[in-house]
Parts: sequence; C-alpha cells; structure tokens
Amino acid sequence: MASFLFIATVVLAVSSVVNSCAPSDRAALLAFKDALKEPYLGIFNSWTGDSCNSWYGVSCDPTTNRVIDINLRGESEDPIFEKAGRSGYMTGSISPEICKLGRLTNLIIADWKGISGEIPSCITSLPSLRILDLIGNRLTGEIPADIGKLQKLTVLNLADNGISGEIPPSIVNLAALMHLDLSNNQLSGDLPVDFGKLGMLSRALLSRNQLTGSIPASISQLYRLADLDLSANRLSGLIPDSLGKMPVLSTLNLDSNSLSGQIPSSLLSNPGMGILNLSRNGFEGNIPDVFGAKSYFMVLDLSFNNLKGPIPGSLSSAKYIGHLDLSHNHLCGSIPVGTPFDHLEASSFSNNDCLCGNPLKVC
Ligand SMILES: *[C@@H]1O[C@H](CO)[C@@H](O)[C@H](O)[C@H]1NC(C)=O
Repeated sequence: MASFLFIATVVLAVSSVVNSCAPSDRAALLAFKDALKEPYLGIFNSWTGDSCNSWYGVSCDPTTNRVIDINLRGESEDPIFEKAGRSGYMTGSISPEICKLGRLTNLIIADWKGISGEIPSCITSLPSLRILDLIGNRLTGEIPADIGKLQKLTVLNLADNGISGEIPPSIVNLAALMHLDLSNNQLSGDLPVDFGKLGMLSRALLSRNQLTGSIPASISQLYRLADLDLSANRLSGLIPDSLGKMPVLSTLNLDSNSLSGQIPSSLLSNPGMGILNLSRNGFEGNIPDVFGAKSYFMVLDLSFNNLKGPIPGSLSSAKYIGHLDLSHNHLCGSIPVGTPFDHLEASSFSNNDCLCGNPLKVC
C-alpha cells in the first residue's frame, strides 16, 4: 500500500511537471485574466496553479506546453452555465499581453456582451492564428491595419460589436480565409476592389454596417463563395452581371441598400441560387423572364423596388418557390398560374400598379 502510494505520488508529480505550461504563457494568461471581470459564473476560478492546460477554456500543446487555444464562449451548454442558469457576461478588455502567446492557434472570446476596448493590434503578430472569433462583445476601434499578415487565418468573426473605420485593404491577403463575418458593426468606406483575391472564401457576411460604393466585380472570382450577405449597408451602383455566374453561390442578400439598374438575368436563371433578397433598393426595369424547371428558391424577395412590367411567365415553371415577395413595385398584368404560385398569399403581390388574378382579385 505504502509503495503504491509512493508510486502514485511520483506519477502525479511527474505528470504535473510535464503539464505545467511555459512560464511566459502562464504570465500572459494571468495578465489577460486580470483585464477582464466575469462576475456571475466563476469561469476564471480554475485559473490557478502551474498546469494551465487544466484552466477553463485553455488548451496547450502536450509536447511544447505552449498555449494553443483560448476558447471562452458566453453562450454555451457547458455545465457551468446550466448551474448558474444564465448566459455569460464579462466586462473589461482584451489585454495586448495575449500577443505573447506566440503559438496561439484559436482565439475565441465570444458572446460576453460587455467586453469593450479595442482589438489589440499586436494580434497580427501571432503567426499560427487560424480562428479569431470575438463575436458578440462591445469592441470598438478599427480592425488592425495589417490583419493580412495572418496567413493561416481561416475564420475571422468580429460580428456584433462596435468596430468602426474602413475594412483594411490588407484583408485581401488572407489567403486561407474561409469564413468572414463582420456583420453588425460600424464599418464604413468601400469594399476593397480586389476582394476577389480571397480565393478560399466560402462565406462573406458584412450586413448591417455603413459600407458605401459599389459591389466589386472581382467578388465573382470567388469560386468557393456560397453565401454573400451585404444587406443593410449604403451600397450603390449596379449588381455586376458576373455575380449570377458564380458556381456555388446559393445565398445572396443585398437587401436594404441603394443599388439600382436592372436585375441581371444570370442571377435569376442560376439554378443554384436558393435565397435571393434584393428588397428595398432602387432596381428598375422588367423582371427578366428567365426562370425554368431548375429554379428552386427558398426565398425570392424583390419587394420595395421600382420594378415594372408583368410577372414573368417562366416563374410558373419553377420547381419550387418557398417565399416570394414582389410587393411594393410597379408591376402590372395577370399573375401567372401554376404550382409555385398555389400557396402564395395576396401580400406577396400587394402594392403594385395593376396586378390581378389569384390570389388578388380577378382580372
Ligand atoms: C429581405 O430583406 C428585407 C429588407 O431587409 C427584410 O425585411 C425581409 O424580411 C427579407 N426577406 C426575407 C424573406 O427574409
């Protein structure tokens, strides 16, 4: 028994030596913690001792004992939240000391609602960073100008903060970036004209900012882009024709901007397009008559524009149209008959110049 205890003690001692993290990383983590205040859950209670691998939300590389992940989410199913019966709340700021964690791969400080201050600009000196997710805080200031240095970055999520200034031109150098979410901030200025350089990008969510200028045509070079949301900005000009020819683009939200001109036919004839919202812009001219048996729209919202002419007859040959909204335009003529129209209500067609037929009054 005594010898067993002795061996057990030795094993424990050895393993805790093995697991103790690099002293400089430990110091950086403690400085990071000191700049934050988390009053309700006690997530930092475990941040004591030498083995920071066992600290809540921290992971280390087992061979180097360097910190590789910080994963702190304020909305989580972790028991710590269930026990407290509430979601997370934290105030304070993100200490630049975090930039001393030279091997950091994932930095997730999400949905704490009250963390303010700026994104430390030194963050761009973390060469291994793959995920930077700071969604749902109260961060202000600008996106670091040299963000493009992060050559391994695959996810950049700064949504739901108060970040202002322009999108830094260097952002187009993020050669590995797959997911970009800057929604719901105070970003202004134009989208970089060479946005199309982001060759790995599959989701670009930039809605609810104050972006101006036109949609750069280079976006259509992004052959992996499936989801583009530029809604609720101040974009103007035409939709580049080439946007309709993108191979995997299936969700396109351009609603609530000041876009104008005709709706490119390629956008409506593209069989991969499933969600298209062009509502609340200044689109004019006729709706191109280019739908077909492969058209499959979960959402087709063209409401609140200046569209005129008839509802194209080809729309009745579409395979499926879940939600159609053509209201608040200047359309005229009879509503086509066909299965895609059977389930639609009058509100889909209301406030036009002279539409008639089911579900509106007979012609
Ligand atoms: C399309 O955008 C408008 C304006 O932003 C919004 O009100 C509407 O709900 C959206 N349509 C759908 C079906 O999501």
